[in-house]
Amino acid sequence: MADQNKVDANPTKSFFVRMITRDISLEDCILDLIDNSVDGAWELEGGQPMSLGDNVDLSSYAINIQIEDDRFVISDNCGGITFNDAVEYAFTFGRKEQVHDEPYSIGVYGIGMKRAVFKIGKKINIRSTYDKRGDEGSFIVPIEVQKWLEDDTKDWDFDIAEDKPLDHTGVEITITDLPENVATSFSNPAFVQNLRRMLARDYALHLNRGLAINLNGEWISGWQISLQVGGDISPMRVEYEDAVGDEVVNVEIFAGMVASPPEDVSPSEDIRGEKQYGWYIVCNGRIVLAADKTELSGWGSDGWPYWHQQYAGFIGIVMFNSSKTELLPLTTTKRSVDASSEVFRRARLRMRDASRDWINYTNTRKQSLSEAKKVEAIPKPQLIF
Ligand SMILES: Nc1ncnc2c1ncn2[C@@H]1O[C@H](COP(=O)(O)OP(=O)(O)OP(=O)(O)O)[C@@H](O)[C@H]1O
Ligand SMILES: [Mg+2]
Repeated sequence: MADQNKVDANPTKSFFVRMITRDISLEDCILDLIDNSVDGAWELEGGQPMSLGDNVDLSSYAINIQIEDDRFVISDNCGGITFNDAVEYAFTFGRKEQVHDEPYSIGVYGIGMKRAVFKIGKKINIRSTYDKRGDEGSFIVPIEVQKWLEDDTKDWDFDIAEDKPLDHTGVEITITDLPENVATSFSNPAFVQNLRRMLARDYALHLNRGLAINLNGEWISGWQISLQVGGDISPMRVEYEDAVGDEVVNVEIFAGMVASPPEDVSPSEDIRGEKQYGWYIVCNGRIVLAADKTELSGWGSDGWPYWHQQYAGFIGIVMFNSSKTELLPLTTTKRSVDASSEVFRRARLRMRDASRDWINYTNTRKQSLSEAKKVEAIPKPQLIF
């Protein structure tokens, strides 16, 4: 008989799955799976902070993604998940308190992989081959989502079994039985094209360190960003440590001119390179906000002007690094910044200075255009990443 002094308040599996998969896009789910591979590679390379000057070489790591209208496969050679880690924490919904953090990782919440596979399809096979700390082996976690949902015991566990090894250490996730909306997106070339662009942009720092990402047979090359340096033109550069309790977040800000601002500002005209301009926010190496021209990065808030075409040509980059990923202004979807984060608010004051300098520059430039053009002819592009 049920305990008469308690009411049942446990979540149902189907409610839980609906909730966690609701507010994340399909693209961001795929990025979540890539984040995990990247974290695997980063850990094997020493798990250090990512700064623009580091020499980390990721050229021995590759991530392969296949997107078809009836299946999704992602595989990597980034070290894999050990059997013990799988049993104890990799599949729990949300990180357990006592689990140690991976220093300088992108992953922090303990939900990404589960949310992603549930969003993508109903038949999931997660395989891993590993050789870590003297422990080697291979396993498979097969998840039949419908069966798992219908099993209304209190047990939320998945089965795990030993398996034949993959070709190399790493993880391979295969998902079939796709819901119709997913199948429709996956069969749409525009979806794949857009995803390719997102990968080139958001993993630019990893791709530019040699990481290989292949999507449907094509290798992705990372975006490169250069700021103009020379003569009277030099980017702003600020570096500081932001203490949060006993821990610290390292912040590096670069901002400046990528290209001369437009001479004629007409709202109907598309500005060349417009998609690149704005602020970039990078958390432990992952670009979570790109080319932002909204209030989030300050434009149009607290007395800053709204972004408009006069400001084209500007790029600012903020790199947040911490061994404690939870201190970074990451949202759970890693698609934006947490604007309520104190670390981010403090950085925004510095970003404001950089934006203000640029606004002033574009204003004075209008007064003496020929002079400005002479000044702008001197600098050369210097690669930032
Ligand atoms: N491709 C992979 N290679 C190595 N380890 C992996 C891989 N995918 C998942 N893992 C392990 O599984 C764990 C759980 O992944 P999951 O994405 O659910 O959470 P997370 O990455 O810890 O946090 P977040 O919710 O922020 O992504 C990871 O912490 C990692 O240890
Ligand atoms: Mg993750």
